Amino acid sequence: MLKKSLKEFDINVFTDLENDFAVVTAGNRQTGPNPMTISWGGFGRIWEKNCCFIFIRKSRYTHEFMDKTDSVSISFLDKKYKKEVVFIGRNSGRDVDKFKETGLHAGVDPDQNAFIISEARRVLKCKKLYSIDLDYDSLPDKIKEENYQTKDIHTMYICEIKEYLTDEE
Ligand SMILES: Cc1cc2nc3c(=O)[nH]c(=O)nc-3n(C[C@H](O)[C@H](O)[C@H](O)COP(=O)(O)O)c2cc1C
Repeated sequence: MLKKSLKEFDINVFTDLENDFAVVTAGNRQTGPNPMTISWGGFGRIWEKNCCFIFIRKSRYTHEFMDKTDSVSISFLDKKYKKEVVFIGRNSGRDVDKFKETGLHAGVDPDQNAFIISEARRVLKCKKLYSIDLDYDSLPDKIKEENYQTKDIHTMYICEIKEYLTDEE
């Protein structure tokens, strides 16, 4: 994959995140990787840095990895991997080895001490800067009813985008 400037990052978050093909991989060489499908989040600037904003419920196995390490990547996969991405979003790494089951490969990046999905078309390598749990009590009632009936709250992670890789020329 080629290292590119983020100025060439041409993802439309309103279509590409909703179309289900984004996978967060948390973990480093010490913990090993755990991948999880995401469709909530965003990209933008804060503290003079290019960042992504990821929302992970506390119940996810990935949450444990995010707490233990600051290494995280977002891989965008082609539609032909829809089955694999859905599997990664419906199964927990507590129960299955998602790389083994899907046949996807975890590539390790020695510089960032992070993992990426080798089959991805675009990858953002990131470093966790900050995390905060959403405050259940201050959420609007409708949002609580629709999303947090079991109070399985999201943690918001702000991660700096360190590198953008793509397989497109
Ligand atoms: C399309 C799709 C999008 C998802 N987006 C999110 C998300 O943004 N945040 C989240 O906490 N869970 C999300 N999930 C659910 C997790 O991917 C799912 O619970 C996964 O099995 C967690 O794996 P883990 O326990 O190995 O971390 C999504 C699932 C799918 C299928």
